[in-house]
Amino acid sequence: MLDSDDFLKAGLVRIQREVDSVFHAELAPTSDSRNRLIEAMRYAVIGGGKRIRPLLLVSTAEMYGVGRDAALRAGCAVEAIHSYSLIHDDLPCMDDDDLRHGKPTTHKAFDEATAVLAGDALHALAFELLAHDETSHDPFIRSELVTTLASASGMGGMAGGQMMDMMAESEDYDLHTITRLQQLKTGALLGAAVEMGAILGRVSPEGRGHLRNYARDIGLAFQIVDDLLDHEGDEEKAGKALRKDAGQGKATFVSLMGVDHAREQAHALVEQAIGHLITHGEEANMLRAVARFIVERDR
Ligand code: IPE
Ligand code: IPE
Ligand code: MG
Ligand code: MG
Ligand code: MG
Repeated sequence: MLDSDDFLKAGLVRIQREVDSVFHAELAPTSDSRNRLIEAMRYAVIGGGKRIRPLLLVSTAEMYGVGRDAALRAGCAVEAIHSYSLIHDDLPCMDDDDLRHGKPTTHKAFDEATAVLAGDALHALAFELLAHDETSHDPFIRSELVTTLASASGMGGMAGGQMMDMMAESEDYDLHTITRLQQLKTGALLGAAVEMGAILGRVSPEGRGHLRNYARDIGLAFQIVDDLLDHEGDEEKAGKALRKDAGQGKATFVSLMGVDHAREQAHALVEQAIGHLITHGEEANMLRAVARFIVERDR
């Protein structure tokens, strides 16, 4: 029997391999000049990330007996949005970062125009993956998946949160506003991953309440830990530049609560998230393990 660390590690290694293989297949090289775009997409999306969002989606879907391949396609759709958001987040007009996943950012390895296009095309690929009938034979399910990912990505989700984040340099946000910002910027896509797993599993919207509560709590904990890592993490392990938030004069959970309180809060949120899974048995063990990993991670 695997102990819980090995159980999580095995889950991460497996999903990382599976996600890479979907993107290898979807992003086959071409013999024309679009190949530069495809190379940049492959560069950004293959290898590197922790794949937390696909792991959440597939683990939720499996609780309800959904086939692995269908759930994986939906997981890759969320990851494609996430990867596009990171390419654009690193651009000089946003965070101006040179390093991501321990290698030069996409605009450094290619150029800015190619990086913008790679982000655009990953955004489109996400919805193409969802709209295909290999993801679900049921058009109502496909449509609900598309709507859920679209709302989590746009003005009421990630992009809206990124706008608030950009404004944070010149505005004095209080804890309430920072919480709202982070729920949009980070929480929305993590929440969509869990929600989409439940949609594939045909869980009714009323039956998803506890999963939404779980996702809300881990989403907030995730961002508190991102802020803690920015403050005191190891750049080598993170594979990206750290100590940027304070430099940019941005209020974060850490600047508003202090390191100790922020860490306590993240741990409390994870315990609360696990509490929302009380009605589930062993089938929810991976969601429990992911929740713990979110506060224990060092990258
Ligand atoms: C980093 O997300 C950016 C935020 C949304 C805070 P992850 O920490 O999930 O990034 P990767 O994909 O694992 O690098
Ligand atoms: C980026 O947040 C979040 C999104 C791309 C939506 P950050 O700017 O804090 O992420 P890192 O720290 O660069 O990974
Ligand atoms: Mg940013
Ligand atoms: Mg950034
Ligand atoms: Mg950050």
